Amino acid sequence: MKKRSARAKSHQLWGGRFAAAPHPSLEAVNRSIDVDFRLWPHDINLSKAWATALVGARVLSRVEATKIQRGLDRVARRIRSGNKPIRTDEDVHTMIDRLLHDESGSVASRLHTGRSRNDQVATASRLLVMHELDAVTQLVEELQRTCHKRAAGLLDAIMPAYTHMQRAQPVSAAHWMLSHFWALDRDRVRLQAARVSAGVMPLGSGAIAGSAFRVNRTRLAKTLGFHSISPNSIDAVGDRDFIADALYALTGLATHLSRLAEDLILFGSSEFGFVRFADAFSTGSSMMPQKRNPDALELARSSPARIGGDLFALLMMLKGTPSGYNKDFQEDKRALFDALDAITLLLPAVSGSVRTLRFDRARMRAAVSSSMMATDLADYLVRRRVTFREAHGAVGSLVRQAELAQVELDMLGASVFRSAHPLFASAARRELNAESSLSHREIPGGTGPRAVRTQLAQAAKRVRKSR
Ligand code: ARG
Repeated sequence: MKKRSARAKSHQLWGGRFAAAPHPSLEAVNRSIDVDFRLWPHDINLSKAWATALVGARVLSRVEATKIQRGLDRVARRIRSGNKPIRTDEDVHTMIDRLLHDESGSVASRLHTGRSRNDQVATASRLLVMHELDAVTQLVEELQRTCHKRAAGLLDAIMPAYTHMQRAQPVSAAHWMLSHFWALDRDRVRLQAARVSAGVMPLGSGAIAGSAFRVNRTRLAKTLGFHSISPNSIDAVGDRDFIADALYALTGLATHLSRLAEDLILFGSSEFGFVRFADAFSTGSSMMPQKRNPDALELARSSPARIGGDLFALLMMLKGTPSGYNKDFQEDKRALFDALDAITLLLPAVSGSVRTLRFDRARMRAAVSSSMMATDLADYLVRRRVTFREAHGAVGSLVRQAELAQVELDMLGASVFRSAHPLFASAARRELNAESSLSHREIPGGTGPRAVRTQLAQAAKRVRKSR
């Protein structure tokens, strides 16, 4: 009995059936408040809605529900103004329950009727995911706008495009910039799909069998901003797929950021010199005075390791768990919050880096050599009814001769051209020009100047529509 009174000092949501207090090592490992504290606004919202639902189920009177809801508002104010968890708060639900008893007295004890922390934590987590994915989506859209703006300024700049990291064909620099825009656009779609996956409300599932009090779940879901209610209480309290979906979308986003970052890091090297990073987004070296390092972009490059690691941690945590709620699931928040924190820090820094860097159009243009127009030369023959295979062979022999002579294609004499193929007239040499190469590619999605303008307008619609 003595031990029970020791337990009674801490505010606990359970414990009546135990004779002894939990061992400190159990308390320590079980505690999740340091991680899940940030669920508090969502936990308060769902509790306020639950109080109203309990009126409908004739568990609470209107007056009692109002008392509870006012108390919850005061709890929110206390937390917002800096009230911190105490050592004995097992998790955020316990903390809020303790503060509510503080604020509203014994009526607070009626709130936790017909619900469990199992449906509660799943509901609060889903509310947080919906909220945070919207915030991330906004940040992605901001980066897209930045890419769009930079692309608009690069419409008449020409640069090499690379395959296998080898100079391939000349493209409009705007075309390259927009290639990243579209990848980010798919991320936004995936983030919103993950939001839909989170939008199913588990509340009313109780611990596992469903609440014994007839709350109107559909109305409750609408109040809280869910699009539907879970159809099975066992599944509802044991389902963390919505977190896997969110982490997958975030991993995909991080992967795209890493690829954009790697392009820029490479282009910012002295060897390329296509871009120069702004002072505000460069760091120095403690030893080498000349250094200008793109640290934010390098961290973007590494971010799939951290965020993909979170995805993997979640999937491994879920694997093999039996149906229903298990304490294993408490670890879901560590992975989820870490990924959200990482991406939220990263996106503004990447946007800033892209917004402020300078493009060196002359360096880009200078990197385009006439040999990159070898395909255009073959296409020239094809337009004169030569098969592409034959044309490819003819241009191949020109490339080989240029390589032997250590010159670019446009340095080879007219007789060399004619001996490679009799249909090579002097006009063929005009194909070795980047502008002409681009102008042949006015196909939708191609790098022709008009096609890129159309693409830019399409992109503008994507960031305007979603406002
Ligand atoms: N902190 C817990 C979690 O995040 C809340 C749910 C606790 N449920 C329970 N049956 N102990 O998973």
